Amino acid sequence: MSAYTLNGKVALVTGGGTGLGLGGAKRLVEAGAFVYIVGRRQSVLDEAIKKLGANVRAIVADVSKKEDMVRVAATICAEKGKLDIIFSNAGYYKGAKLEDVTEEYFDAIVNVNLKGQMFTVQAMLPIMNDGGSIILTSSMTAFIGLPEYTGYAATKAAVIGMAKVWTTELKSRKIRVNVISPGAIPTEGYETVQGMTPEQVKEFAEKCAAEIPVGRVGRAEEIGDSVVFLGSDASSFINGVNLVVDGGQTQVYAGNL
Ligand SMILES: NC(=O)c1ccc[n+]([C@@H]2O[C@H](COP(=O)([O-])OP(=O)(O)OC[C@H]3O[C@@H](n4cnc5c(N)ncnc54)[C@H](OP(=O)(O)O)[C@@H]3O)[C@@H](O)[C@H]2O)c1
Repeated sequence: MSAYTLNGKVALVTGGGTGLGLGGAKRLVEAGAFVYIVGRRQSVLDEAIKKLGANVRAIVADVSKKEDMVRVAATICAEKGKLDIIFSNAGYYKGAKLEDVTEEYFDAIVNVNLKGQMFTVQAMLPIMNDGGSIILTSSMTAFIGLPEYTGYAATKAAVIGMAKVWTTELKSRKIRVNVISPGAIPTEGYETVQGMTPEQVKEFAEKCAAEIPVGRVGRAEEIGDSVVFLGSDASSFINGVNLVVDGGQTQVYAGNL
């Protein structure tokens, strides 16, 4: 049972088939919302639907293609007539050293993490209810200078700026725009995108846990809890913020732990 109620609300979660998107979709459904999840792999979305149960529908689409997101908006409009919450979460987070960054790699990162979030929101605006809530996904990587993450950090920092502009542009429609910056939360992508072995993920999680005041890495549902909060009226006076959900990892000097 959720602490906040989203009964009657319609939500979109990009990258909702796995990881933080799935955690977000789970919590949104539990709070009473009808949730659309988007991803590129039908099989992954099918599995997610099985886990999520009722009040969820999957649409195969690529956030980096504007026409796909316009199609998603048309489908939601035809079925529900409106949208209340966007959790723009789909992301690509493979690293590359500065000297190894290729144009192809840089374009791929920008296309998903930045262009994807830009046109997801733009495509949904015509069907978005006034008073709705937009939640963009950044990362603690945007502001910690992590080596080998030039492209990723750049896109995630850009998202924070984009959200602030939209906060003022959407003022007249009373649509709030906030950002979530997750910390270390092992998900499917650590293996499928980053290429880590399960042992490497375990080692990484242990190393991070030692640097996190909460004493452990995060869980996808904990991002989901923040999504529900920012999507609900419980956060009605919170607008334009970057909510860092990292167990305190970037809030303290690690040497003090
Ligand atoms: N996990 C962490 O530690 C962490 C920390 C900070 C920030 N983040 C951010 O949180 C978000 C989710 O990360 P995650 O760890 O949950 O990653 P994940 O496990 O790799 O999940 C990413 C999801 O996005 C979908 N996706 C990727 N590219 C897409 C595209 N072009 N169009 C539509 N869907 C797409 C993937 O499905 P398909 O491949 O089937 O499309 C997948 O379901 C990302 O934005 C990431 O940068 C994660």
